[in-house]
Amino acid sequence: MQLSIIVPTYNEAPNVGELVRRVADETRGIDAEIIFVDDSTDTTPDVVLEVAASASVPVRLIHRERRTGGLGGAVLEGLAAAAADACLVMDGDLQHPPEKIRELYDRFARGDVDVVIASRYAGDGTSAGLADRTRVLVSKVSTALTRAMFPIKLKDVSDPMTGFFLIDRRVVDAATLRPRGFKILLEILARRNLRIAEVSFDFGGRHAGESKASMRQGLHFLTQLTALRFGKMSLFAVIGGLGALANIAIVWGLTHVGVNYIVAAIIASEVTIIGNFLLQERFVFHDMRGQASGVGSRFAKSFTFNNAELLIRIPIVALMVSGGHISAVIATAITLIVAFVVRFVFHSLVVYAPRKPGAQVSRTRQLVDELDAQAMSPGEL
Ligand code: GDD
Ligand code: MN
Repeated sequence: MQLSIIVPTYNEAPNVGELVRRVADETRGIDAEIIFVDDSTDTTPDVVLEVAASASVPVRLIHRERRTGGLGGAVLEGLAAAAADACLVMDGDLQHPPEKIRELYDRFARGDVDVVIASRYAGDGTSAGLADRTRVLVSKVSTALTRAMFPIKLKDVSDPMTGFFLIDRRVVDAATLRPRGFKILLEILARRNLRIAEVSFDFGGRHAGESKASMRQGLHFLTQLTALRFGKMSLFAVIGGLGALANIAIVWGLTHVGVNYIVAAIIASEVTIIGNFLLQERFVFHDMRGQASGVGSRFAKSFTFNNAELLIRIPIVALMVSGGHISAVIATAITLIVAFVVRFVFHSLVVYAPRKPGAQVSRTRQLVDELDAQAMSPGEL
């Protein structure tokens, strides 16, 4: 097999026949297959099987019971199931013209790149098919933002959000990807330095049916971008920073209305400890919750740790100041930085530790690897 064409579908029944016909025409002379990775609730899977029976290319159907990872998750399943290493990914609604497949394939076959991207924003490409002016604007702004955030990895990429590309699947390290929605290519590109070529294409209108892109996808995308760019550790720091500000504000507010300073400080600390826990659960460690212990136990560990840290830090500052000839401000800053790192390590490795520890790899080695993966995942500066 020379080429596997992966088509994620979510309710695309009226488009399947036309897509297969045009792909089959275009791939004549190439040993190719089409794999539909389908999450539909309509008759798409039936239509795929029906079309497959008479198609002139092999057509396979993977119907998923659960929409794990949405579009991005479907693409990864397709990559895993493909017979060829050269995998072309395209939408199932004909907004990606099958008539471009050969150009992508020929460019890839030259053998000097890992991925060929079909771009709306390169050469004479267009994005006329975007539904309305709002989507055009959203697309342009998010493309610019994304490129600004990954100036090195995306320097040769004019359209990191496209869903139309041909990739050597051996460069995709599926285990490190956390597909969450629409932008799987961006995630792949952001993780590694790949050799990239682009060809232009016209993003047309849909053949039939309606778009599944939504406001929710947009929000998803923004969190994905932040996580990719800043990684867990920085997200953790941002939330910790917000917590510190909230802490100060609460102390200020309470003392202002006459509450005793110590009482105010205790209330503020406990409120921010709880608030931080909830935010970290939601935004930083959401992907690790599934395998970790229950939420009650996670909260107990986090809460105990933070209170212990609070109790220990103050005397340490005092010791440093009295014994080490350093100012209280510097001592506080040092302990805060150390506390931040320890807190992050404790949360990634203890609070959100998987329930069953893995096989008999040395425990230290396991901790180091895991910490490394957690803190460094996004790469590139
Ligand atoms: N399996 C599966 N699961 N497929 C899905 C899912 C899902 O949860 N959500 C959407 N799809 C499929 C659709 O059926 C379609 O084949 C393709 O993914 C793209 O979805 P559309 O709903 O047509 O999205 P779009 O046209 O708004 O988005 C396009 O433009 C983006 C760039 O602006 C797509 O080409 C995206 O890939 C592209 O990133
Ligand atoms: Mn579409």
